[in-house]
Amino acid sequence: MRIAILTGGGDAPGLNTAVYEFTKLAEKKHEVYLALHGWRGMLEGELVRAKSIDLLGSAFAGGTFIKTSRTNPFKDEERAKRLADTIKSRGIDVIIAIGGDDTLGAAAEAQSRGLANVVGIPKTIDNDLPETDYTLGFDTAVNIATTETEYVKTSSVSHERISVVEVMGREAGWIALFTGLATGADAILIPEKPIETATVVEKLKRAYGEKKYALAVVSEGVKQDVGGPVDEYGHARLGGVGNELAAIIEKELGVETRATVLGHTIRGSPPSAFDRVLATRFAASAFDAMEAGEFGVMVALKGNDIAAVRLSDIAHRNKLVSGKWLELLDRHWSL
Ligand code: F6P
Repeated sequence: MRIAILTGGGDAPGLNTAVYEFTKLAEKKHEVYLALHGWRGMLEGELVRAKSIDLLGSAFAGGTFIKTSRTNPFKDEERAKRLADTIKSRGIDVIIAIGGDDTLGAAAEAQSRGLANVVGIPKTIDNDLPETDYTLGFDTAVNIATTETEYVKTSSVSHERISVVEVMGREAGWIALFTGLATGADAILIPEKPIETATVVEKLKRAYGEKKYALAVVSEGVKQDVGGPVDEYGHARLGGVGNELAAIIEKELGVETRATVLGHTIRGSPPSAFDRVLATRFAASAFDAMEAGEFGVMVALKGNDIAAVRLSDIAHRNKLVSGKWLELLDRHWSL
Protein backbone atom coordinates (compact mmCIF):
# COMPACT_ATOMS: atom_id res chain seq x y z
CA MET A 1 0.00 0.00 0.00
CA ARG A 2 1.01 3.61 -0.45
CA ILE A 3 0.59 5.56 2.77
CA ALA A 4 0.84 9.30 3.45
CA ILE A 5 1.39 10.70 6.95
CA LEU A 6 0.53 14.30 7.81
CA THR A 7 0.52 16.55 10.88
CA GLY A 8 -1.98 19.43 10.96
CA GLY A 9 -2.99 22.30 13.25
CA GLY A 10 -0.83 23.75 16.04
CA ASP A 11 2.37 21.82 16.63
CA ALA A 12 2.59 19.69 19.76
CA PRO A 13 5.33 17.69 21.48
CA GLY A 14 5.28 14.06 20.37
CA LEU A 15 4.44 14.57 16.70
CA ASN A 16 7.92 13.62 15.51
CA THR A 17 7.91 10.52 17.69
CA ALA A 18 4.59 9.37 16.24
CA VAL A 19 5.72 9.96 12.64
CA TYR A 20 9.01 8.16 13.24
CA GLU A 21 7.46 5.19 15.03
CA PHE A 22 4.73 4.71 12.43
CA THR A 23 7.23 4.92 9.58
CA LYS A 24 9.51 2.40 11.24
CA LEU A 25 6.65 -0.10 11.51
CA ALA A 26 5.12 0.53 8.09
CA GLU A 27 8.15 0.87 5.81
CA LYS A 28 8.96 -2.82 6.01
CA LYS A 29 5.82 -3.72 4.05
CA HIS A 30 4.57 -0.50 2.48
CA GLU A 31 5.59 2.66 0.66
CA VAL A 32 5.44 5.49 3.19
CA TYR A 33 5.28 9.17 2.22
CA LEU A 34 5.32 12.34 4.29
CA ALA A 35 2.73 14.94 3.24
CA LEU A 36 4.39 18.25 4.16
CA HIS A 37 2.46 21.09 5.80
CA GLY A 38 -0.56 19.06 6.90
CA TRP A 39 -3.53 18.82 4.55
CA ARG A 40 -1.88 21.45 2.35
CA GLY A 41 0.69 18.84 1.36
CA MET A 42 -2.03 16.36 0.39
CA LEU A 43 -3.78 19.05 -1.59
CA GLU A 44 -0.69 20.26 -3.43
CA GLY A 45 1.00 16.87 -3.71
CA GLU A 46 3.95 17.90 -1.52
CA LEU A 47 4.88 14.30 -0.81
CA VAL A 48 8.31 12.97 0.01
CA ARG A 49 9.31 9.38 0.56
CA ALA A 50 9.77 8.59 4.25
CA LYS A 51 12.66 6.55 5.60
CA SER A 52 12.77 6.05 9.34
CA ILE A 53 16.55 6.42 9.38
CA ASP A 54 16.15 9.99 8.06
CA LEU A 55 13.59 10.75 10.79
CA LEU A 56 15.58 9.30 13.66
CA GLY A 57 17.50 12.52 14.38
CA SER A 58 14.28 14.44 15.03
CA ALA A 59 12.25 11.59 16.55
CA PHE A 60 12.36 12.95 20.09
CA ALA A 61 12.59 16.66 19.29
CA GLY A 62 9.81 19.20 19.69
CA GLY A 63 7.78 20.66 16.82
CA THR A 64 6.96 18.73 13.69
CA PHE A 65 9.75 17.92 11.30
CA ILE A 66 7.25 17.46 8.47
CA LYS A 67 5.70 20.91 9.11
CA THR A 68 2.11 21.83 9.68
CA SER A 69 -0.62 24.18 8.54
CA ARG A 70 -4.24 24.91 9.33
CA THR A 71 -5.33 24.37 5.72
CA ASN A 72 -8.83 22.95 5.45
CA PRO A 73 -8.91 20.83 2.26
CA PHE A 74 -12.72 20.92 2.22
CA LYS A 75 -13.05 24.69 2.42
CA ASP A 76 -14.90 24.62 -0.89
CA GLU A 77 -15.72 22.08 -3.58
CA GLU A 78 -12.89 23.21 -5.84
CA ARG A 79 -10.40 22.31 -3.09
CA ALA A 80 -12.16 19.06 -2.30
CA LYS A 81 -11.89 18.07 -5.96
CA ARG A 82 -8.21 19.01 -6.05
CA LEU A 83 -7.64 16.86 -2.99
CA ALA A 84 -9.44 13.93 -4.58
CA ASP A 85 -7.38 14.33 -7.78
CA THR A 86 -4.07 14.49 -5.91
CA ILE A 87 -4.86 11.44 -3.78
CA LYS A 88 -5.83 9.51 -6.90
CA SER A 89 -3.00 10.64 -9.15
CA ARG A 90 -0.37 9.96 -6.45
CA GLY A 91 -1.91 6.57 -5.72
CA ILE A 92 -2.38 7.15 -1.99
CA ASP A 93 -4.34 4.32 -0.37
CA VAL A 94 -4.11 5.30 3.28
CA ILE A 95 -3.72 8.62 5.10
CA ILE A 96 -2.45 8.73 8.68
CA ALA A 97 -3.71 12.09 9.93
CA ILE A 98 -2.18 13.36 13.17
CA GLY A 99 -4.01 16.38 14.51
CA GLY A 100 -6.72 18.06 16.52
CA ASP A 101 -10.37 18.70 15.74
CA ASP A 102 -9.88 20.51 12.41
CA THR A 103 -7.32 18.06 11.02
CA LEU A 104 -9.32 15.02 12.12
CA GLY A 105 -12.57 16.63 10.97
CA ALA A 106 -11.04 16.78 7.49
CA ALA A 107 -9.88 13.18 7.94
CA ALA A 108 -13.44 12.09 8.72
CA GLU A 109 -14.65 13.94 5.64
CA ALA A 110 -12.01 12.33 3.41
CA GLN A 111 -13.08 8.93 4.68
CA SER A 112 -16.80 9.56 4.27
CA ARG A 113 -16.32 10.84 0.73
CA GLY A 114 -14.31 7.68 -0.04
CA LEU A 115 -11.20 9.66 -1.07
CA ALA A 116 -8.85 7.48 0.97
CA ASN A 117 -8.78 5.17 3.93
CA VAL A 118 -7.89 7.15 7.01
CA VAL A 119 -6.58 6.50 10.51
CA GLY A 120 -6.32 9.39 12.94
CA ILE A 121 -3.92 10.02 15.82
CA PRO A 122 -5.08 12.63 18.37
CA LYS A 123 -2.76 15.50 19.23
CA THR A 124 -3.27 18.92 20.74
CA ILE A 125 -1.70 20.47 23.77
CA ASP A 126 -5.24 21.62 24.67
CA ASN A 127 -6.39 18.01 25.37
CA ASP A 128 -9.84 18.95 24.10
CA LEU A 129 -10.52 16.07 21.69
CA PRO A 130 -13.40 13.82 22.73
CA GLU A 131 -13.21 10.04 23.15
CA THR A 132 -9.61 10.05 24.38
CA ASP A 133 -8.41 10.72 27.91
CA TYR A 134 -5.21 12.35 26.68
CA THR A 135 -4.02 13.85 23.44
CA LEU A 136 -0.42 13.90 22.34
CA GLY A 137 1.40 16.98 23.65
CA PHE A 138 -0.83 17.78 26.62
CA ASP A 139 1.40 16.17 29.24
CA THR A 140 4.51 17.97 27.99
CA ALA A 141 2.69 21.31 27.77
CA VAL A 142 1.48 20.96 31.37
CA ASN A 143 4.97 20.00 32.54
CA ILE A 144 6.53 23.05 30.89
CA ALA A 145 3.73 25.33 32.12
CA THR A 146 4.20 23.97 35.65
CA THR A 147 7.95 24.59 35.59
CA GLU A 148 7.53 28.09 34.20
CA THR A 149 4.76 28.96 36.63
CA GLU A 150 6.97 27.84 39.54
CA TYR A 151 9.62 30.28 38.31
CA VAL A 152 7.05 33.06 38.18
CA LYS A 153 5.94 32.13 41.71
CA THR A 154 9.52 32.33 43.01
CA SER A 155 9.84 35.86 41.69
CA SER A 156 6.40 36.75 43.03
CA VAL A 157 7.44 35.62 46.52
CA SER A 158 10.64 37.67 46.35
CA HIS A 159 8.84 40.83 45.28
CA GLU A 160 5.69 40.26 47.34
CA ARG A 161 3.59 40.60 44.22
CA ILE A 162 0.54 39.01 42.69
CA SER A 163 1.14 37.09 39.47
CA VAL A 164 -1.27 36.14 36.76
CA VAL A 165 -0.03 33.37 34.46
CA GLU A 166 -1.93 32.93 31.22
CA VAL A 167 -1.67 29.60 29.42
CA MET A 168 -3.02 28.37 26.10
CA GLY A 169 -6.33 26.58 25.85
CA ARG A 170 -8.66 28.22 23.45
CA GLU A 171 -11.89 26.33 23.98
CA ALA A 172 -11.09 24.18 27.00
CA GLY A 173 -9.32 24.85 30.28
CA TRP A 174 -7.41 21.59 30.72
CA ILE A 175 -3.95 23.17 30.63
CA ALA A 176 -4.90 25.92 33.10
CA LEU A 177 -6.63 23.45 35.40
CA PHE A 178 -3.71 21.01 35.55
CA THR A 179 -1.09 23.78 35.79
CA GLY A 180 -3.05 25.59 38.48
CA LEU A 181 -3.49 22.42 40.53
CA ALA A 182 0.14 21.44 40.04
CA THR A 183 1.44 24.80 41.28
CA GLY A 184 -1.01 25.43 44.13
CA ALA A 185 -2.47 28.48 42.39
CA ASP A 186 -4.86 30.56 44.48
CA ALA A 187 -7.21 31.13 41.56
CA ILE A 188 -7.71 28.92 38.51
CA LEU A 189 -9.79 30.38 35.71
CA ILE A 190 -11.07 28.27 32.83
CA PRO A 191 -13.72 28.90 30.16
CA GLU A 192 -15.94 26.10 31.51
CA LYS A 193 -16.40 27.81 34.88
CA PRO A 194 -17.15 31.50 34.58
CA ILE A 195 -16.22 33.38 37.76
CA GLU A 196 -17.06 37.01 38.48
CA THR A 197 -13.99 39.22 38.40
CA ALA A 198 -14.96 40.54 41.84
CA THR A 199 -14.77 36.98 43.22
CA VAL A 200 -11.32 36.50 41.71
CA VAL A 201 -10.12 39.76 43.24
CA GLU A 202 -11.54 38.78 46.65
CA LYS A 203 -9.85 35.36 46.57
CA LEU A 204 -6.48 36.87 45.65
CA LYS A 205 -6.85 39.54 48.32
CA ARG A 206 -7.33 36.87 50.96
CA ALA A 207 -4.42 34.78 49.64
CA TYR A 208 -2.13 37.80 49.48
CA GLY A 209 -3.11 38.77 53.01
CA GLU A 210 -2.02 35.34 54.25
CA LYS A 211 1.25 34.86 52.33
CA LYS A 212 2.30 38.18 50.81
CA TYR A 213 2.12 36.78 47.30
CA ALA A 214 -0.66 35.27 45.25
CA LEU A 215 -0.93 33.36 42.01
CA ALA A 216 -3.71 33.10 39.45
CA VAL A 217 -3.54 30.76 36.46
CA VAL A 218 -5.89 31.66 33.65
CA SER A 219 -6.73 29.98 30.39
CA GLU A 220 -6.51 32.17 27.28
CA GLY A 221 -10.07 31.14 26.38
CA VAL A 222 -11.60 32.73 29.48
CA LYS A 223 -14.08 35.37 28.44
CA GLN A 224 -13.40 37.59 31.44
CA ASP A 225 -11.76 39.44 28.68
CA VAL A 226 -12.10 42.41 27.55
CA GLY A 227 -13.13 43.01 24.03
CA GLY A 228 -9.50 43.13 22.90
CA PRO A 229 -8.32 42.34 19.40
CA VAL A 230 -9.25 38.98 17.92
CA ASP A 231 -7.44 36.84 15.37
CA GLU A 232 -8.70 35.74 11.97
CA TYR A 233 -10.71 32.94 13.57
CA GLY A 234 -12.43 35.31 16.00
CA HIS A 235 -10.43 34.03 18.99
CA ALA A 236 -9.22 36.48 21.64
CA ARG A 237 -5.56 37.28 21.13
CA LEU A 238 -3.05 35.57 23.37
CA GLY A 239 -2.32 37.77 26.37
CA GLY A 240 -5.69 39.53 26.34
CA VAL A 241 -7.25 38.06 29.44
CA GLY A 242 -4.01 37.69 31.43
CA ASN A 243 -2.96 41.30 31.02
CA GLU A 244 -6.45 42.64 31.54
CA LEU A 245 -6.96 40.65 34.71
CA ALA A 246 -3.59 41.75 36.14
CA ALA A 247 -4.47 45.40 35.52
CA ILE A 248 -7.83 45.02 37.27
CA ILE A 249 -6.29 43.22 40.27
CA GLU A 250 -3.57 45.85 40.68
CA LYS A 251 -6.12 48.64 40.51
CA GLU A 252 -8.56 47.01 42.94
CA LEU A 253 -6.05 45.78 45.51
CA GLY A 254 -3.27 48.32 45.17
CA VAL A 255 -0.76 45.45 45.05
CA GLU A 256 1.86 45.22 42.29
CA THR A 257 0.57 42.61 39.86
CA ARG A 258 2.37 41.15 36.85
CA ALA A 259 1.02 39.10 33.97
CA THR A 260 3.12 36.42 32.30
CA VAL A 261 1.82 34.94 29.08
CA LEU A 262 3.45 31.55 28.55
CA GLY A 263 2.10 31.39 24.99
CA HIS A 264 3.98 29.16 22.57
CA THR A 265 6.76 28.27 25.06
CA ILE A 266 4.62 25.36 26.27
CA ARG A 267 4.15 24.03 22.74
CA GLY A 268 7.74 23.85 21.50
CA SER A 269 9.47 21.62 24.03
CA PRO A 270 10.77 18.12 23.34
CA PRO A 271 8.13 15.60 24.42
CA SER A 272 7.98 14.30 27.98
CA ALA A 273 8.60 10.60 28.60
CA PHE A 274 4.81 10.15 28.87
CA ASP A 275 4.21 11.76 25.46
CA ARG A 276 7.02 9.74 23.85
CA VAL A 277 5.48 6.53 25.12
CA LEU A 278 1.97 7.67 24.17
CA ALA A 279 3.16 8.55 20.65
CA THR A 280 4.75 5.12 20.35
CA ARG A 281 1.57 3.40 21.52
CA PHE A 282 -0.63 5.52 19.22
CA ALA A 283 1.64 4.81 16.23
CA ALA A 284 1.62 1.07 16.91
CA SER A 285 -2.17 1.00 17.25
CA ALA A 286 -2.65 3.10 14.11
CA PHE A 287 -0.45 0.59 12.27
CA ASP A 288 -2.44 -2.34 13.67
CA ALA A 289 -5.75 -0.70 12.70
CA MET A 290 -4.45 -0.17 9.17
CA GLU A 291 -3.21 -3.73 8.87
CA ALA A 292 -6.59 -4.98 10.09
CA GLY A 293 -8.38 -2.83 7.48
CA GLU A 294 -10.03 -0.81 10.22
CA PHE A 295 -10.43 2.65 8.74
CA GLY A 296 -12.33 5.85 9.59
CA VAL A 297 -11.04 5.50 13.15
CA MET A 298 -8.91 7.47 15.58
CA VAL A 299 -6.70 5.69 18.09
CA ALA A 300 -7.43 6.84 21.63
CA LEU A 301 -6.30 6.45 25.22
CA LYS A 302 -9.08 5.07 27.42
CA GLY A 303 -7.85 4.67 30.96
CA ASN A 304 -4.55 2.91 30.41
CA ASP A 305 -5.59 1.13 27.23
CA ILE A 306 -5.46 2.13 23.60
CA ALA A 307 -8.71 1.78 21.68
CA ALA A 308 -10.02 2.77 18.26
CA VAL A 309 -12.99 5.15 18.09
CA ARG A 310 -14.99 6.33 15.09
CA LEU A 311 -13.57 9.50 13.53
CA SER A 312 -17.11 10.60 12.80
CA ASP A 313 -17.80 10.60 16.56
CA ILE A 314 -15.02 13.03 17.37
CA ALA A 315 -15.15 15.43 14.44
CA HIS A 316 -15.92 19.05 15.34
CA ARG A 317 -16.66 18.31 19.02
CA ASN A 318 -14.70 19.64 21.98
CA LYS A 319 -14.03 17.74 25.20
CA LEU A 320 -14.54 20.37 27.86
CA VAL A 321 -13.56 20.23 31.52
CA SER A 322 -16.55 18.60 33.24
CA GLY A 323 -17.70 16.09 35.86
CA LYS A 324 -15.13 15.14 38.49
CA TRP A 325 -12.68 17.74 37.23
CA LEU A 326 -15.17 20.57 37.66
CA GLU A 327 -16.01 19.25 41.13
CA LEU A 328 -12.32 19.38 42.02
CA LEU A 329 -12.13 22.93 40.74
CA ASP A 330 -15.23 23.88 42.75
CA ARG A 331 -13.59 22.56 45.90
CA HIS A 332 -10.50 24.56 45.05
CA TRP A 333 -12.56 27.74 44.72
CA SER A 334 -14.40 27.05 47.96
CA LEU A 335 -11.16 26.96 50.04
O1 F6P B 1 -4.92 24.49 19.41
C1 F6P B 1 -3.75 24.56 20.10
C2 F6P B 1 -3.36 25.97 20.37
O2 F6P B 1 -2.08 25.90 20.94
C3 F6P B 1 -4.34 26.74 21.27
O3 F6P B 1 -4.16 26.49 22.62
C4 F6P B 1 -4.00 28.16 20.89
O4 F6P B 1 -5.11 29.02 21.07
C5 F6P B 1 -3.71 28.07 19.43
O5 F6P B 1 -3.24 26.75 19.20
C6 F6P B 1 -2.66 29.06 18.97
O6 F6P B 1 -2.49 28.91 17.62
P1 F6P B 1 -1.40 29.69 16.77
O7 F6P B 1 -0.09 28.99 16.98
O8 F6P B 1 -1.90 29.55 15.38
O9 F6P B 1 -1.35 31.09 17.27
